[in-house]
Amino acid sequence: MPQPFYITTPIYYVNARPHIGHAYTTILADVVCRFNTMRRAETFFLTGTDEHGDKVVRAAKKEDLSPRVYVDRISGLFRNLWPELNIKYNAFIRTTDTSHIAVVEKVLKKIYDSGDIYFSEYEGLYCYGCERFYTERELIDGKCPDHETEPEIIKESNYFFRMSRYQDWLIDHIKKNPDFIRPERYKNEVLSFLKEPLEDLCISRPKTRLQWGITLPFDPNYVTYVWFDALLNYISALGYPDGNLFNTFWPYAQHIVAKDILKPHGIYWPIMLKAAGIPIYKHLNVHGYWNVDQSKMSKSLGNVIDPIELKNIYGLDAFRFFLLRDMVFGLDSGFSEEAFVQRINSDLANDLGNLFSRVLTMAHKYCDGIVPKIDSTTAQELTLELQSNAVDTVSVFEKAMDTFAFHKALTAIWEFINQMNKYVDVTAPWVLAKKKSNRKQLEIVIYNLLEGLRIISGLIYPIMPDTAATMQRHLGLISEKPFQNLDMLKIWNVLEPGTKLLKSIILFPRIDLKKTTVATTSKVLDSKESPPEIKPEIDFDIFNKIDLRVATVVHAELIPRAKKLLKLTIDVGTERTIVAGISEYYQPEDLVGKQIIIVANLKPAKIMGIVSNGMLLAAIDPPGCSIAVLDKKIKPGTPLK
Ligand code: ME8
Ligand code: MG
Repeated sequence: MPQPFYITTPIYYVNARPHIGHAYTTILADVVCRFNTMRRAETFFLTGTDEHGDKVVRAAKKEDLSPRVYVDRISGLFRNLWPELNIKYNAFIRTTDTSHIAVVEKVLKKIYDSGDIYFSEYEGLYCYGCERFYTERELIDGKCPDHETEPEIIKESNYFFRMSRYQDWLIDHIKKNPDFIRPERYKNEVLSFLKEPLEDLCISRPKTRLQWGITLPFDPNYVTYVWFDALLNYISALGYPDGNLFNTFWPYAQHIVAKDILKPHGIYWPIMLKAAGIPIYKHLNVHGYWNVDQSKMSKSLGNVIDPIELKNIYGLDAFRFFLLRDMVFGLDSGFSEEAFVQRINSDLANDLGNLFSRVLTMAHKYCDGIVPKIDSTTAQELTLELQSNAVDTVSVFEKAMDTFAFHKALTAIWEFINQMNKYVDVTAPWVLAKKKSNRKQLEIVIYNLLEGLRIISGLIYPIMPDTAATMQRHLGLISEKPFQNLDMLKIWNVLEPGTKLLKSIILFPRIDLKKTTVATTSKVLDSKESPPEIKPEIDFDIFNKIDLRVATVVHAELIPRAKKLLKLTIDVGTERTIVAGISEYYQPEDLVGKQIIIVANLKPAKIMGIVSNGMLLAAIDPPGCSIAVLDKKIKPGTPLK
């Protein structure tokens, strides 16, 4: 039996809605988990939400909600998002779960009793965004590198975790287990950090400053530092200390995180485990950032891209494929919709999609839509090379997946797809079909191509499960068959002659970038430029001449040949048409049903041959744009004063 497999994502802060950064990590976890099921390993996949701490309290306050109501709401957003991305987790942990709280208390007590937690006064530079103290040398221009704000000086008595005691042990552990932290650059980063003396970690917050947390079991005046609480989710979710799940899976634990949280995972966490007498996790897998316009996509910068929006426009499997193909695991990657569309067109529509429909079409044309029966003794010449390519591909794929080199795994599959496409060109079934005497060869070629498709469908399964299923249905593989079992991908001649094939379909339609409006990136841009100067004063009389009205958008469409214009049919009590220059920012369907504000008595103007009867109000600050809307529904035509 293969080893069990336990994979975790970070538990995300519930201070904002999920974006493609979170989606990337969680999809990765899903992909490696599915890959391990292909090996028939027992798998466990954990994700969840991090719900305590200052950050969350402030986010709740902003929405005028109690932390409790707020965390329930946002945690639900995460929990419900994942199934929409075909992510199949086994458990969803929340740090407000009572079972988690009990584990945090137990571990704190254990470490406290063993003498590794002490009480002391401390003064330091504290970043509220990160909820941690910074040393001077960690700051950039005196500011938190993550939030770009100046930390505040805080002085207080707190509990400290004696991390310094374990510094040498950790260095040794990392050196003895070279792939403990991977890729290597992050191992080196942690080691270089450990060259300086490790400071003890402040693990408490006085209740006078923060109540939303887990009370220390040995001092009711303090709550637990959010990181000390959060990291323990990885064992509390398995029922530490004696759950069945814990015994089965903890020895094989692997974490996935981005580099923003390398330090807590690469330093605090192994030391916490060591101090509590718990075995250390196996691997920490660290990836880079998805950037937008050179800066990290993050809720604090407000430049986030919504995964559901991308899924809705381009399809889920294309989205999952793109994330894995375009980022080299460990390095940063710039997100661009153009690159995404290009990938869909070249890799998915052209290479994979064409091959699939080409082969199925030929199987129908030449073999009546049935897997042909072949005589394997005469098949050698036409088979050996393709078969050995397939074997090589599966082995490269397996190794790459095992080491989180997803782009390599995908490159290997695509190399095989190209070999298959070449095989079609070289064997030219349409030529073979012309002569009766070539019948046997023709059938061998078709059989081999179908086998190749079967192997491709198995290989893409972890990344594109729906597409894999569609391909397999078309190949007549019923789902009970172990077709996504890695061993089955290592052998040839699996498809049974006589099996009925389904008619060819287009797996991935080509996308015309010009026709798809760029997905709204809901950018709240913190532009450094100051807004234009306020215009000269006017009398109330003049203002009063402007007739602002509520209007409901009834219909919206792009104006052909116009780069920026949308034609809107609106209801202002009566229907009329206006033209608005916002098509770079809004999709027509996003606007239908929205209540907007228009200048109703602006002199009509002809724009691109269309008479615009009024003007919509919008704030445009490229690449950001936000139209003025109302906060409640109101009768169309109502004047604004
Ligand atoms: O740090 N690119 O939560 P968090 C790639 N609660 N990945 C990104 C990303 C980006 N631009 N932005 C976010 C926390 N991520 C703690 C974790 S774990 C015990 C506690 C992903 O909501 C990436 O996985 O800030 C990153 O590590 C994580 O979201 C941070 O999520
Ligand atoms: Mg963060």
